[in-house]
Amino acid sequence: LPGPVCGSLRCDCAPPLGASRPRVASPGLGAEGIFIGRDLHAEGSFCYDPFALYNSGRIEGFTNPNAILCGVIGMGKSALAKSIATRAIAHGYKIYVPSDPKGEWSGLAEALGGQTIALGPGLPGRLNPLDAPPQPDGVSAADWSSEVRKRRLLLLASLAATVLKRDLLPMEHTGLSAALDLAVADADANGTVPLLGNIARLLGTRERLDATLGDEGRIGHAADDLAHALRRLVSGDLSGMFDAPSTVIFDANAPMLSIDLSRLGSSGDDTALVLAMTCASAWMEAALADPAGGRRWVIYDEAWRIMRHLGLLERMQQQWKLSRGLGIANLLILHRLSDLLSAGDAGSRGRVLAEGLLADCSTRIIYRQEPDQIPAALALLGLTGIEAQAIAALTRGRGLWKVAGLSFIVQHLLHPRERQLYDTDFRLAA
Ligand SMILES: Nc1ncnc2c1ncn2[C@@H]1O[C@H](COP(=O)(O)OP(=O)(O)OP(=O)(O)O)[C@@H](O)[C@H]1O
Ligand SMILES: [Mg+2]
Repeated sequence: LPGPVCGSLRCDCAPPLGASRPRVASPGLGAEGIFIGRDLHAEGSFCYDPFALYNSGRIEGFTNPNAILCGVIGMGKSALAKSIATRAIAHGYKIYVPSDPKGEWSGLAEALGGQTIALGPGLPGRLNPLDAPPQPDGVSAADWSSEVRKRRLLLLASLAATVLKRDLLPMEHTGLSAALDLAVADADANGTVPLLGNIARLLGTRERLDATLGDEGRIGHAADDLAHALRRLVSGDLSGMFDAPSTVIFDANAPMLSIDLSRLGSSGDDTALVLAMTCASAWMEAALADPAGGRRWVIYDEAWRIMRHLGLLERMQQQWKLSRGLGIANLLILHRLSDLLSAGDAGSRGRVLAEGLLADCSTRIIYRQEPDQIPAALALLGLTGIEAQAIAALTRGRGLWKVAGLSFIVQHLLHPRERQLYDTDFRLAA
């Protein structure tokens, strides 16, 4: 087998310049992009760069740079994502991991000269998910403020819907947007930034909301549930973390940035972690809104945790729509394809959103799936019978890559140094 070559100047596996870049034996996806591993059918190297593919228009149906990666536990999903990250940095990309519930990206970020923000009880880090990033060049102040308002509303609605475990009522949407506008006006008057706690208080006390909305729109008790829902982030198990001015400044020049949520612990129903993942993602995505920010990968490891939450899917879908214009490729990592189906029954809003996310991924990488997942794979990806059989038998690091209409079986190759850096088996050995 040809040796893996990441090309990174910071990494020992970089070959002497101009030396043995692995031979590309088949036209495959072409030699452009980063080396992933071995194309087992063509017996050649497999390289991949979603932006190069997207811009070249060479592959029919390759309409976006996003990718979905799914496979059962321990098959090497995160290792592949980390290789993509490490190797892509050498090609000028920046890497963002908006929520890392296992804390397994921090060591890599550090090794690559990046930055990690750790959040958890007793830790000093604070992120305000309502932060407004600086207005990018070429965007008018009015357009930018309406964009920021839209993002904030979407975030607030999805946080509330997650805690309440239901869609918001029309009156609640009205209350939320009125509370946001009041909190923003207060913050502007004081030269500060609105906080989740301000909004929870405005919803809880109601007088100012009623005064703003007038007789016709009187909110009454309709906002009580909302106020309680947002208090979970203010005084519940996440208290302080997302309800204070941010203690971190987003460093747009760092090659990599990850948000470590491993110290949050896992409470019974996962809601705290899901809320934290949402706030952290919203904060980072807002900071990425600069179209001049260059080519970027945003990696959602462990995204299966949030796929059941309708509000979060909605937020994610909006973010993905925006990201195409910003030069951002998203990588969504799930366990099973049926994680997508868990968003709702056929035809429901949740299912439509989840299927929309899948449709928005021109690259689908399928690692081993349990036999009971094969029907879902067939239905969602339109696999052939042979492909469906193959994915039940894939071994570690080996995946079926569906790139628009093309299929490849690829063995991801790790350099020994990468293997050390990405090792997650030590947890089992300990
Ligand atoms: N291509 C590969 N070659 C050799 N070892 C690998 C390869 N891919 C992953 N590994 C090793 O396998 C172990 C599990 O990998 P990884 O943590 O990436 O799996 P995962 O699919 O992300 O698991 P989980 O679902 O638990 O997050 C790691 O120790 C990693 O170093
Ligand atoms: Mg993993």
